[in-house]
Formats: sequence, C-alpha cells, structure tokens
Amino acid sequence: MGLLDSPFDPEREAALVTGAGNGIGRAIAQALVGEGVRTIFADISEERIAAAIKALGKPELAVPFVGDLASRATCDALLAQAEKTLGHVTHFVHSASPPRREADHAFGVSEAAWRQMHAVNIDAGFHLGRELSRKLIAARAPGSFLFLTSLHAATPRNLPHYSSAKAAMAMLVKELAKTLGRYNIRVNALVPGAIAAGGFVADPALARHIPLGRIGQAEDLAAMALAVLSNRISAYVTGASIVVDGGLSLTNWFDPPALEL
Ligand SMILES: NC(=O)c1ccc[n+]([C@@H]2O[C@H](COP(=O)([O-])OP(=O)(O)OC[C@H]3O[C@@H](n4cnc5c(N)ncnc54)[C@H](O)[C@@H]3O)[C@@H](O)[C@H]2O)c1
Repeated sequence: MGLLDSPFDPEREAALVTGAGNGIGRAIAQALVGEGVRTIFADISEERIAAAIKALGKPELAVPFVGDLASRATCDALLAQAEKTLGHVTHFVHSASPPRREADHAFGVSEAAWRQMHAVNIDAGFHLGRELSRKLIAARAPGSFLFLTSLHAATPRNLPHYSSAKAAMAMLVKELAKTLGRYNIRVNALVPGAIAAGGFVADPALARHIPLGRIGQAEDLAAMALAVLSNRISAYVTGASIVVDGGLSLTNWFDPPALEL
C-alpha cells in the first residue's frame, strides 16, 4: 500500500465540521465524505447545509446539524447529536465564523458583532474541542482537530473583532496541542490566504501580490486539510500552523526580481 493510500479508517473514524454549509468548511466536509468518512455538517444555515449534502456522491454519510454555535446550548445539542449518530467524533474541524463586514472597523463594530465573532470562533471552538477530547480520552481513541485561523491572527485586518478572535484561536490550538498530545489527540491550525469564499470578493489585482499568481479556492484548502487531519499521513504533526496562501504572506515592499532567462 502506498504511503498516501487510505488516509482514513472509516470503520473507526468519524468527523464533525462546523461551517460546513459554505466555503472552506464545506469543501473540507465534502472531501471527508469523499474519503468515506461519516461526517456531521454543522452550520447556522439550513439551506446551505441541504445544498452541501445534496451535492455529495454519498449523501448517506452526511449528518446535517443546523444551529447558531454562538449558543452554548446549541453546542451541547451538537455534541449530543454527534454522540447519537456517530459515536465518537475522531476528527473535528472548526471553520464556522460570522460574516466579515468592512463596516465593522474599530469604531464601527457593535457589541453584538464583537461578541458573536468571539463566541463562534473561540468559545464554541474551545467548548467543542474540550468536550470531544474528553470522550476520546475516556475511550483511549486517537483524534485530530483542525482550526481555521487566519493570516490576520498576526497582522491587522481593520476588523479588530475578527483578528483578535483568530489570534486567540491560534493560541488555543497551541494550548490544546500541548495538553492533548499525551492522549494522541493532535491539534493544528490551517491558515488560509485570500480565498474566494465567505462573501470575500477579491479584487483580481490582488493576484499580483500572490507568488502563485491567483486567488485561492476553497478546494485548495481541502487537500491539505485532509493531509493534516489524517492520522496516517500526519501522525507526528501537532501544534502546527499550516499556511495555504499561494505565497501571499511573502508579500512585502520588494517586488520579486525581474529574471532574464
Ligand atoms: N476565505 C478566506 O479568504 C479566509 C481567510 C482566512 C481565514 N478564513 C477562515 O476560514 C473559515 C472559513 O471561511 P470561509 O471564507 O469559507 O467562510 P464562509 O463564510 O464561506 O463560511 C462560514 C460558514 O460558517 C457559518 N456560520 C456563520 N456563523 C455561524 C454560527 N453562528 N453558527 C454556525 N455556523 C455559522 C456560515 O453560515 C457559513 O456557512 C473561517 O473561520 C474564516 O475566518 C477564511
């Protein structure tokens, strides 16, 4: 068997993906189902979840869950649903995040938008990750968690509620990776660059600043997500931040040299 064959063990492994109704979360959830992994598609939008599941080749492997993950009660209902339908969730992907609106700058963001951003990204991410890991530890089962952070965990975005939530999430990944490593639960961050998803309408001129010459697609994240989630491929990877940005983060005030080849 080749090293990249059978990245998952569908007999023992099952996944929960938040934000699975759209963009990067949807691409990852659909890719997991493509690998034969039973997967909960969790999102606030019933319509989006239905469309994401309808597009699957094997929709019977998908379990829908609709709810606002800013609510602790909803997170607990999701955990209960996961236990009932899948047993242990071995793979957890946290991609849900409220819309990013340019008007929510330092003097525009409301108290409610601030709280919702932190509640979904951090509070739900921590609670779901901690409760899922409790069950895995009790069952002595290995696990793999992936959090969608951002380049804006480390550089401003003019959206302080968003960048501060992602910075907190980047540290949460390290905390959980350190605590859970001895139980064979790996925790990593996937760091997208400029990806055409989530209502992000990229100015095509941005491609000039991306060494690989194009804006990313949600599918560009899915293959790397599977590789990091797979206990077979990434067994010795935890606490890592894996940047998938076409080289966008290499941008600075120097243009690349003109080469005469
Ligand atoms: N697209 C990018 O360029 C980019 C860049 C860096 C980081 N990210 C991160 O990657 C993740 C996915 O981004 P995307 O662009 O695919 O986003 P998206 O907006 O396309 O998808 C996010 C999903 O989360 C759901 N959601 C929002 N609030 C929710 C709530 N309260 N409860 C449950 N579900 C909720 C939405 O309905 C949506 O389907 C996010 O965490 C985002 O911050 C994206």
